Amino acid sequence: MTDLVVHPAEAALAGSVPVPSDKSIGHRSLLFASLATGKSRIRGFSWADDNVATADALRAMGARIHPERRDPGESGAAGELTVDGVGLLGLRAPGRVLDCGNSGTSMRLFLGLLAAQPFETTLVGDASLSRRPMMRVIGPLRARGAKIDGAPHPKKEGEVTAPLRIHGLPEGTYLGPLEHESPVSSAQVKSAILLSGMYAHGPTYFREPTLSRDHTERMMEALGVPLRTMGTMVELDPAGWRGAWDGFDIDIPGDVSAAAFLLVAAQLVPGSRVTTRGVGVNPTRVGVLETLRDMGAGLSIEPSGARNGEPIAEIHAWAAPLRATTLGGERVARGIDEVPITCALAARAAGVTTIRDAEELRVKESDRIATMAHVLKAFGVSCEERPDGLVIEGREGPLEPADVESKGDHRIAMTAAVLALVARGPSRIRDVDCVTTSFPRFVGTLRALGARVDVEG
Ligand code: S3P
Repeated sequence: MTDLVVHPAEAALAGSVPVPSDKSIGHRSLLFASLATGKSRIRGFSWADDNVATADALRAMGARIHPERRDPGESGAAGELTVDGVGLLGLRAPGRVLDCGNSGTSMRLFLGLLAAQPFETTLVGDASLSRRPMMRVIGPLRARGAKIDGAPHPKKEGEVTAPLRIHGLPEGTYLGPLEHESPVSSAQVKSAILLSGMYAHGPTYFREPTLSRDHTERMMEALGVPLRTMGTMVELDPAGWRGAWDGFDIDIPGDVSAAAFLLVAAQLVPGSRVTTRGVGVNPTRVGVLETLRDMGAGLSIEPSGARNGEPIAEIHAWAAPLRATTLGGERVARGIDEVPITCALAARAAGVTTIRDAEELRVKESDRIATMAHVLKAFGVSCEERPDGLVIEGREGPLEPADVESKGDHRIAMTAAVLALVARGPSRIRDVDCVTTSFPRFVGTLRALGARVDVEG
């Protein structure tokens, strides 16, 4: 197990850096390229472990994805993959269980895709993923005729978790139509339902309380999948559709969820000026940028066009006095993965910040409300845990040096590393191997900006 020892920043952070490619768009690019007819090219692939899990599973079902491993000489997010797609109906039985590792997105998207196949599959994941709730996807898929079994959840009555066995559909049978109103705003649920809908006999209607990230819809529309979106509602009717698309080229934008750690670090360390380049700024993902603005952060967003229907920007950040805020409502869904790093902003803001409507954090890679409360307290920040969020008292002056566990959660590990930059002495963040699930070059990037970080173990 690897630890990070993060030293207090002795000087301002400075520089212009790339960030890893967007993990969500990476999963979807791999999936849709594997189902295409012909060859696709995916540029800017960053080899985050979660994306690699998706690629490995698709390979096991017949897609040819090259290269298989990162070239050690490759820099930044420069990876290029070629994918020989098998066509919508071309997947074959994998002959082994499919391991989704730590990736909830892989597992939930595969549930939707595999529920419609004529062969049986088993999905497994690591200890954290094997505790995450899957009924939110299995329930609606069963309602349209899928046969899926899972393990009973150890703590939640009626809930199901991995390992998951997805029975193949008997020959000549198909998934049926579905009208589903999801109680949670979730792009993973939405995407699983839409993927299954491409194979169904009959239309799919999906609705969610507020709009979650819409990368699946954008990609489907670009590829000619018969989809219509109306606010928080999406409809897919495959009647009359040819059920195929050609191979395509895609350039994956930088991940705003990864950039957020650097943009917040720039606020915390006095005098800092940091630019993150080529970052995706899809409106369904930029809740954190709006919150940064609300809190008085030094931030300028310079649009630099669009790639494959996804808007891109250079984001400049500089240290500025922060003020507390209240974060809740629909913006939480548009920045759910950035709530932990928002807690670091709140820890340095004047006043008391309240985060609410974020109960989904309890079922992420860790219980992020509990883990963040623990981390904040370890750094000497007063906070109160609520069922759906946190109340955080901003603190002036250096934080206490901390010795904290990541709980195997990449976003907790990176948030703790950012807080450590403004502590009174070196901090230890334990068990940080998880960082490679989303930001393989996190330590190198922090160092490039001037931070002193040791890797131990
Ligand atoms: C993701 C959706 C979100 C997010 C996750 C990635 C996606 O999960 O937290 O990191 O790529 O669809 P939910 O859909 O469960 O909110």
